[in-house]
Amino acid sequence: MRLKRLELLDFRNYPRLELEFEGKREIFLGDNAQGKSNLLEAIAILARGRSPFLSRDDGLIRWDRPQAIIRSLFEKEEGEISIDLLFQKGGKRSIKVNGFYQKRVSDLLGRVSTVLFTCGDIGMVKGPPASRRAFVDEVLLQLPGGYSRLLHPYEKILAQRNQLLRLQAAPGELEVWDIQLAKYAASIEEKRLSFVREIAPLARKHHFLITDGKEDLEVRWEPSFGLEGDPLLWSSSFLEQVRERREKDLARGSTSIGPHRDDLRLILDGKDSHSFASQGQQRSIVLSLKLAELDVLTERIGEAPLLLLDDVLAELDIKRQNKLLESIGEEIQTFVTTTHLSDFTAGWIQGAEIFAIEQGKAIPFRGNFSASREG
Ligand SMILES: Nc1ncnc2c1ncn2[C@@H]1O[C@H](COP(=O)(O)OP(=O)(O)OP(=O)(O)O)[C@@H](O)[C@H]1O
Ligand SMILES: [Mg+2]
Repeated sequence: MRLKRLELLDFRNYPRLELEFEGKREIFLGDNAQGKSNLLEAIAILARGRSPFLSRDDGLIRWDRPQAIIRSLFEKEEGEISIDLLFQKGGKRSIKVNGFYQKRVSDLLGRVSTVLFTCGDIGMVKGPPASRRAFVDEVLLQLPGGYSRLLHPYEKILAQRNQLLRLQAAPGELEVWDIQLAKYAASIEEKRLSFVREIAPLARKHHFLITDGKEDLEVRWEPSFGLEGDPLLWSSSFLEQVRERREKDLARGSTSIGPHRDDLRLILDGKDSHSFASQGQQRSIVLSLKLAELDVLTERIGEAPLLLLDDVLAELDIKRQNKLLESIGEEIQTFVTTTHLSDFTAGWIQGAEIFAIEQGKAIPFRGNFSASREG
């Protein structure tokens, strides 16, 4: 799929912006704090219906304005699709697809998809398990298959159960919640496990390429409870385990096992990257995961999603930069932000559209690219 047109009105620091994209390589070039990341965020929102960074929409609206609008036109194999989003102060939003209003954000999901990689994602390697679970959940939420209808009820039931635990409820009272919890937990685990099994070999392959065969990345899902035998048995087995832990859970006032306690293990050359990976290694690990995510999305959706790379090249050494750029397939429309063009190989810049971003304006850039490296 390809983004052909993007229009912003009072979105972040853009009073008004209209951009047309002709090709598949787009570079947003500009100094700090000009609006490069804001553009990638706008594109990411079109796939998710909400910001990947903010829990409340208000921050998306230009300061002192009542509303923000993002309009877009995509080209997909099945034809063109327009997605328009309106965010109003106070949390109201409207979604239009091909001119028709959609009731829920879930009606938008799966229409277009993006893989977003920002500097913040690096924290996933050394951060708490929640940041790695979030990676897996974000991808599953973008895929068709109703993952949100599992994850969101699970989170609600979990919150209710935790409240009962804090109130020192009787075991009989917990039973009803535990049965529900087990049902959702088992289905969530099934989806997560099959996704991780799918990305693991792909991430290993990408990591191998990016590091020129020097590092071996193993990706493994580590559930917080025993998952043996057929997935059909997981619900009853989880229920048994959660029952056994009721006393403990009552004492600690929270639920000690379940999908909210799982972890995604990232093992580099046999060692847990959580405790030793260098900055560059962390970056390469997350890149490999994101490229694997891109492969899985392509496979499941039937066409390549957009790849959004925010300031990613800067901290990779030249070898890794080249390997990364090489490994992005021609069919993938890629948006890259940068403060200088010297990060790119001359080969990559050829055929790229460059936009100079300055204080909420984007100007097609026609400059001298001799600063770029040979490659
Ligand atoms: N709701 C908003 N209204 C107006 N301006 C905003 C809003 N939200 C963010 N901004 C401003 O947008 C500016 C540009 O932000 P952005 O993160 O896109 O910059 P950038 O070009 O990616 O910079 P860097 O190279 O430092 O990453 C920031 O200075 C920020 O203050
Ligand atoms: Mg930025």
